Amino acid sequence: METGFTVEQLRAAAADAVRAPSLHNTQPWRLRLRDGGIEVAVDRERHLPATDPSGWGARIACGAALFNLRLSLAAAGTPATVRLRPYPTEPDIVARLTPDVPRRPTPAELALHAAIPRRFSNRAPFWPDPVPADARWRLGEAARAEQGWLEMVIGVSAVNAFAEIAHSANRVLERDPAYRAEREAWVRRAPAPDGIPAAAGGPLGEPQDLLPSRGFGGRDRAPGRDFEPEPLVAVLGSPGNTTTDQVIAGQALQRVLLTATDAGLAVSMLSQPIEVPGAREALRLSLGRFGTPQMVMRVGYGQPGSPTPRRDVDEVLDVPVGQR
Ligand SMILES: Cc1cc2nc3c(=O)[nH]c(=O)nc-3n(C[C@H](O)[C@H](O)[C@H](O)COP(=O)(O)O)c2cc1C
Repeated sequence: METGFTVEQLRAAAADAVRAPSLHNTQPWRLRLRDGGIEVAVDRERHLPATDPSGWGARIACGAALFNLRLSLAAAGTPATVRLRPYPTEPDIVARLTPDVPRRPTPAELALHAAIPRRFSNRAPFWPDPVPADARWRLGEAARAEQGWLEMVIGVSAVNAFAEIAHSANRVLERDPAYRAEREAWVRRAPAPDGIPAAAGGPLGEPQDLLPSRGFGGRDRAPGRDFEPEPLVAVLGSPGNTTTDQVIAGQALQRVLLTATDAGLAVSMLSQPIEVPGAREALRLSLGRFGTPQMVMRVGYGQPGSPTPRRDVDEVLDVPVGQR
């Protein structure tokens, strides 16, 4: 009787895990096989000290990679039991997965799994068409299924109030030269396995834009290609804000993103109002919510685009010698 996951199972699931989103596409995760369990760890060598001093972003990314791992194993008929933060003395190991009872994947699992390679951050303007109520409901359900919450910012005045919070957070961040240098260092103008390709960075921001863009050195945009006038802004949150809550929020984020992809929706993320503590609190109060906002998304119908690069799976694996 098989007691643990094999290197082959790890390798196949890791190919899905690394498709997760991460701040500046830093891919801050390591995956290892230890005593038959697959472990997900934060890779401290890929931290962004100026942009992500607390490690929140790295834990969100690891949570998203963990969700892909779970989905991949379930889609292969070998679902996992997950323990978050399994070793109190090793906080960088965010999760350990061990084999659960094998079973056939559900249609929902297969649909979300099929969305993994199709999902990408779409920073271009969306079509003005509204996102229907049933699609919004599905996104909320996806967050709730992973112990998160999703709050839609509805109405012109609420969206304007959000935009003000986002712009003021962006101004605070932009004042820091170390933050700007870090972003510049992760924009790629030649092919690379990580960072943000200039072509994926979205158009350059313009003064009339309602929401701030992150400034990944994108292109000027053609006249008339303005952003949608009434964007659907969705805020993802978690009940608390411990390091484990952030990993949970990362899983909820990925479930929402894959659900959106499956529903034919495009999403871009904007986390400036999460990264500035005062803005994050203002956002929480404006939503009238307990808990902690962990990510903001713009959701809509977008032009086709393409996924961004990832490092080779072998670069993120730690496998016992002799099992490579
Ligand atoms: C914690 C976190 C914060 C992010 N913040 C932003 C952001 O503020 N602006 C943005 O355009 N993209 C943001 N992203 C998206 C990443 O830049 C993107 O996931 C990464 O470049 C990989 O590209 P992909 O999503 O197309 O796979 C964020 C992603 C994560 C996980």
